[in-house]
Amino acid sequence: MAASRLEVESVEVVTAGGVRILDGLSFRVGEGQALGIVGESGSGKSMALRATMGLPPHGTTATSGTVTVGDQRVSAGQSTPPGVAMVFQDPALDPTMRLGTYLAETVGRHRRISVAAARERALELLTDMHLPEPRLRMRAFPHQLSGGQRQRAAIALALATDPRYLLCDEPTTALDVTLQARILALLKARQAADGLGLVFVSHDIAVVSQIADVVAVMYAGRIVEIGPTAALIGSPRHPYTQALIAALPDVGRPSRRFRSIAGTPPDPGEFPAGCRFQARCGHPGTGCEQPLSGLDGRDHRHRSDCLHEHLMESTS
Ligand SMILES: Nc1ncnc2c1ncn2[C@@H]1O[C@H](COP(=O)(O)OP(=O)(O)OP(=O)(O)O)[C@@H](O)[C@H]1O
Ligand code: SF4
Ligand SMILES: [Mg+2]
Repeated sequence: MAASRLEVESVEVVTAGGVRILDGLSFRVGEGQALGIVGESGSGKSMALRATMGLPPHGTTATSGTVTVGDQRVSAGQSTPPGVAMVFQDPALDPTMRLGTYLAETVGRHRRISVAAARERALELLTDMHLPEPRLRMRAFPHQLSGGQRQRAAIALALATDPRYLLCDEPTTALDVTLQARILALLKARQAADGLGLVFVSHDIAVVSQIADVVAVMYAGRIVEIGPTAALIGSPRHPYTQALIAALPDVGRPSRRFRSIAGTPPDPGEFPAGCRFQARCGHPGTGCEQPLSGLDGRDHRHRSDCLHEHLMESTS
């Protein structure tokens, strides 16, 4: 049966010391859709994707939640059902294998085609990724590639498994803007042609807005705002999202004052009981210290979990 969605429900990840890093995280992406996840460093973006893949990092455990692909459901922390691939934030390629061999073996395992056909497909993937002189790169070892080339090789490797869903963790961060635009265009083409579903993580809301249909904003291990991209970027409701957007550089107006977000996110062991943005929020009000649970990212309507968002809209 065709996979119709990738759905993550109520996933919790804790450290060996019992600190809950991800707290009831839920999100959903359908075939041909792109969900963007943004947030500052440490907000839990990588953890969300790794838990979805069943690969929480060493020293952490997924203690509850489920991951569903099509009609197959597993507990979070178990290997994700087939059809999902991930581009890791710091991709580790086998240092002993030439790139072409690595890619062709991966293609061969998934497509069960001849060695020659698998090598052709590997070359096609590297060409799609705009690697210079892709035939030569087929013979390169990972240490012979630049950081940006390794990142593109990692995307090619993930696509070599013909996934229905691709989890991308900062896949264009090491690339210049021209290459970044090309890779985004290639991923969009896969979405349109093959119905590839994307979960695209970045700290840069401007990059995410170029590819995502829906954006989820994470803060301190929870989703604090979600909505269709144009609505969320055009009318952000949560003070954190408003601050993220206000902090974007404006190349058209270099004299505009750069606005950083005051303060730093709380450490996972020190999350406050109420709204986790309290200490940095310019307008905390009644009830902000009461427990909030974060938003269910499976519902893509525009919402924020700020208790006073109606006031924020009028003061922003
Ligand atoms: N192996 C680990 N053991 C314990 N805590 C961890 C581990 N890996 C990450 N963390 C913590 O989990 C939280 C979320 O980390 P995560 O890597 O998901 O952040 P991120 O949003 O991807 O940040 P960045 O933008 O810097 O990549 C952070 O507080 C981090 O310190
Ligand atoms: S819930 Fe309160 S503290 Fe949190 S963002 Fe809204 S106003 Fe600020
Ligand atoms: Mg990360």
